[in-house]
Amino acid sequence: MKVAVTGAMGLLGHELTRQLRQLPRMEPLPTARPRGTLPEGIIPLDITDRAAVIDFFDRHRPAVIVNCAAMTQVDQCETDREACWLNNVTAVDYLLQAASQTQTHFIHLSTDFIFDGSHGPLDETAVPRPINYYGESKWAAEQRVRHSNLPWAILRTVLVYGKPAFPGRANIVTWVKESLESRKPIRVVNDQWRTPTFVNDLAAACVLAIRKKATGVYHISGEELMTPYDLAMRVAAFFELDTQLITATDITGFQQPAQRPPRTGFIIAKAKRELGFEPRTLEEGLAAL
Ligand SMILES: NC(=O)c1ccc[n+]([C@@H]2O[C@H](COP(=O)([O-])OP(=O)(O)OC[C@H]3O[C@@H](n4cnc5c(N)ncnc54)[C@H](OP(=O)(O)O)[C@@H]3O)[C@@H](O)[C@H]2O)c1
Repeated sequence: MKVAVTGAMGLLGHELTRQLRQLPRMEPLPTARPRGTLPEGIIPLDITDRAAVIDFFDRHRPAVIVNCAAMTQVDQCETDREACWLNNVTAVDYLLQAASQTQTHFIHLSTDFIFDGSHGPLDETAVPRPINYYGESKWAAEQRVRHSNLPWAILRTVLVYGKPAFPGRANIVTWVKESLESRKPIRVVNDQWRTPTFVNDLAAACVLAIRKKATGVYHISGEELMTPYDLAMRVAAFFELDTQLITATDITGFQQPAQRPPRTGFIIAKAKRELGFEPRTLEEGLAAL
């Protein structure tokens, strides 16, 4: 089965490609924005290039596409709204239009940042109300996907961590670990709640959605609700690093262009029941890193 993956140089796209390559009946078609020389086997595709998107679908006719590509830097989305909309919404329109020619199963990644964070954890029936531009763009994209004439699934996720595809691309766990290893003190917020997600589990959920031809909205994350500070302390303890270097702070300690939803986190009962999704605990994820 031909499975197109966009954003294959990103945290999720890279891990998903790795998992698909190990599965006998899957023929992954990993694509990435053409920047310098791409690794062998990665097809250049900028999803904001409409003609290139159409050409890709004409040429490969994938049975499934998993759209992992997005502009994910929340503050950059706030300050460069045009680029955010282009990558997170307009590009999704291009993918949907091209996919409609081949009736490709469209699996789209979304985020807990579509919610205002007034309460959590949240299930799939919670009402979105984004409080920053990244969240607004991702919610707008979800609506484009829902109104398409394709078989579609939206997998929403929360605070993803894992082994980065390429050095220099940090996520919360690698940032904490590398900072403490170089004895750099860090301040971490203790007034936001999330259910952190191990990227290998998220990729496994994408594979389950592909296999089961899942349709509808699914919340995919870890099951443990914690603050980033709790997470940092657990990372430090797991890797036997100095917890004294970690200071708890509240969000007022940071000057950031984009507001963050205070309390999100997901209830994942639907994904467990319908997809057979079973995420690891944080320590199991750290051990697998
Ligand atoms: N990471 C999280 O904590 C988190 C939480 C909730 C939801 N999500 C969602 O999960 C999905 C995967 O995120 P991730 O963590 O894998 O993010 P990531 O590591 O930032 O990867 C996103 C990838 O998309 C690529 N991309 C951006 N614009 C593109 C374009 N026009 N054409 C082709 N590729 C493009 C980026 O390429 P460049 O390297 O060239 O920029 C990057 O490789 C996204 O939809 C994100 O919104 C992530």
